Amino acid sequence: MISTSLPPLSLYVHIPWCVKKCLYCDFNSHPLRSDVSPENYTESIIKDLMQYRHTLQDREIQTVFFGGGTPSVFEPALIARIIDYVKDSFSIKDDAEITLEANPGVSDSARFEGYRTAGVNRLSIGVQTTNDEILKRLGRAHSSEEALVAVQEAKLIFDNINVDLMFALPGQTLDELHLDLLRILDFNLNHLSIYQLTLEPNTWFYKHPPKLPDDDLAAEMQSDIESVARAHGYKQYEVSAFAGPGKRCQHNMNYWEFGDYLGVGAGAHSKLSCFENSTRLVKHKQPKRYMESIESGDGVFTNRAIQYESLPFEFFMNALRLLDGVPMSLFQKRTLMPIMEVKPKLMSLVDRGLLTVSKDVIRTTPLGLRFLNEVLQDFL
Ligand SMILES: C[S@@+](CC[C@H](N)C(=O)[O-])C[C@H]1O[C@@H](n2cnc3c(N)ncnc32)[C@H](O)[C@@H]1O
Ligand code: SF4
Repeated sequence: MISTSLPPLSLYVHIPWCVKKCLYCDFNSHPLRSDVSPENYTESIIKDLMQYRHTLQDREIQTVFFGGGTPSVFEPALIARIIDYVKDSFSIKDDAEITLEANPGVSDSARFEGYRTAGVNRLSIGVQTTNDEILKRLGRAHSSEEALVAVQEAKLIFDNINVDLMFALPGQTLDELHLDLLRILDFNLNHLSIYQLTLEPNTWFYKHPPKLPDDDLAAEMQSDIESVARAHGYKQYEVSAFAGPGKRCQHNMNYWEFGDYLGVGAGAHSKLSCFENSTRLVKHKQPKRYMESIESGDGVFTNRAIQYESLPFEFFMNALRLLDGVPMSLFQKRTLMPIMEVKPKLMSLVDRGLLTVSKDVIRTTPLGLRFLNEVLQDFL
């Protein structure tokens, strides 16, 4: 008999503005203009949340994540307004992880203090690289000095800090990456996310591709990241995430464990389960259109049920990113599908050296991680 308890629930709040658009970025983010009213957008977020008060009243929110864009372009009072509303209107776990993404150049000690007072208890700082020349090539709006000062100041205010870096950047050498890692890991934070640069459609870099490190150099960079992180006491627990003991990002863990999430704000995605069905909702992407549609309706652009047949792909697309793997029972718990339905596929991947299934834990092998997209094809 499969248990039908609902998955844990997280909340994502999207703030779609930045100081300027970076050349590689395909996120739903727009340069901040003077005709944008952060106050009005905040009220749209509140109205967006309001419509879920009754349907989600019996479910406890485990984590909250303010992502962007650059949430730190919003004054702490606006972030406080949203957190207060969530605390007053929903049930939220006592020590819920509440993360905010902050960018160097639009964050200082006073802002950090303000966010902490508002209830934020985890900061994620987008550094990307500490090399000024490469920051310029990426079109970032801050210097290396500003990034390092932001991390230093944040450390005095938050115990729980993540830094985002990227690697295999235009013209980047192994030594330059190594220096980025040392500079950031020497701060003795507790979380590092590091992503290999990808050239995304609809970006400047896609139209004007820069010269990037070749595959061999990118592979050397990946091993350097793993060994420097290990030497600093971080454990890699997901393809791009490294954490000190007990410091995994709870919000992202919920995505990777195929939990539920409510997304509010322009272009935000939700996955919400109800009895045996799960639905994906996407809000209107353009901030203005989103705000208008919240005023006149629910802000939803698309709403579709997840098809039963696509559940294995959707589950494994997330779970196989976790280096410790997931218990076999989690598959049944989250998808309400008997594990027997995917056993032949799992066994075929085990035979090909891409997965292991041991003591009821399904785990990707290092080879499987390298060819994750190919592994997932088997579940399509
Ligand atoms: C939501 S984004 C932006 C967060 C924040 N605004 C910033 O720029 O630091 C989260 C992270 O995704 C990564 N990222 C964005 N675009 C990327 C790309 N094309 N390739 C690889 N990583 C990317 C960056 O490390 C970034 O910090
Ligand atoms: S600051 Fe972050 S979200 Fe904004 S454009 Fe740059 S990478 Fe994208």
